[in-house]
Amino acid sequence: MNKFSLPRQTRTVDEITGSRRLRRMRKADWSRRLVQENHLTVDDLIWPLFLTDGENRREEIAAMPGVYRLSVDLAVKEAERAATLGIPALATFPQVDFSLKDVAGSEILNPDNLINRATRAIKAAIPEIGIITDAALDPFTSHGHDGILRDGIIVNDETVEQVASAAVLQAAAGADIVAPSDMMDGRIGAIRDALDASGFQHVAIMSYATKFASAFYGPYREAIGTQGLLKGDKKTYYIDHANSDEAVREAEQDLAEGADMLMVKPGLPYLDIIRRLKDEFAVPTFAYQVSGEYAMITAAAQNGWIDGEKAMMESLLAFKRAGCDGILTYFAPKVAEMLKG
Ligand code: PBG
Repeated sequence: MNKFSLPRQTRTVDEITGSRRLRRMRKADWSRRLVQENHLTVDDLIWPLFLTDGENRREEIAAMPGVYRLSVDLAVKEAERAATLGIPALATFPQVDFSLKDVAGSEILNPDNLINRATRAIKAAIPEIGIITDAALDPFTSHGHDGILRDGIIVNDETVEQVASAAVLQAAAGADIVAPSDMMDGRIGAIRDALDASGFQHVAIMSYATKFASAFYGPYREAIGTQGLLKGDKKTYYIDHANSDEAVREAEQDLAEGADMLMVKPGLPYLDIIRRLKDEFAVPTFAYQVSGEYAMITAAAQNGWIDGEKAMMESLLAFKRAGCDGILTYFAPKVAEMLKG
């Protein structure tokens, strides 16, 4: 029994809302479709692919069910599938053999390293698909950091020089967009200069402008085999995840240095940053729905705790709503198939 005597409603709903009823347009599927503000299409997708040495190799990544490390020959097959599905671009990430790693990540300067071999092979087979290469040292260093490590410090300027040289080699192999993910100061300008000096004016730069020090990269480190190597964390170069103004300053700096596109990483926990950057700069803006985000949705779905496909679509549309022009997502082929069907 309710011991309070409830007050009678004194106004009608129409008096309360001024006769505005937002449910009117939600009443049927046709009217919901008519007023839908944001849409996800295959043109929004960038598919990150993990590469490994050898031939005919396809190894599932434990923390990312449905995602595989692929040898170059199979990566070419997946690129063909991507092109058939209409996915505009791929982003490649190598699992570098441990014997090739050193403190300076010098294998990144091998014109025939795994990334560059994959780019050449994919471009030879499917010239029309866009290739985005990760210009960062972490797959190549014996300590898993994105820079050259000296006396416990990630040295900025030497790292920048090396990443800029690596970017030129990636462009020479056929990369359409170079995407530095290391957060060293001055890397965008140095890469632009190096590309231009080598005749690669047409190669674009997608800056991982706002890359946050995040726990959501865990499965990726398993995928490229750096998780056991990394000592400490990346807080001296990635942005503190408590900060938002700093992300705007970082993006502003990268644009001033010549970035063509901005990326926010991770994705879903950082929608506020995406919206701020889009409003502030109005440039092509992308999100990276990272490995941990993929793992969370996939694991919950495998347990029957959420509808995986619906959660996937909802998360991707959220990026569009926040202002993204596109999304790097491991769900790309699945989404492309769903959008087609
Ligand atoms: C590092 C790099 C990271 C990712 C791609 N390149 C982060 C890291 O290991 O610190 C993460 C991608 C993902 O989690 O899906 N240059």
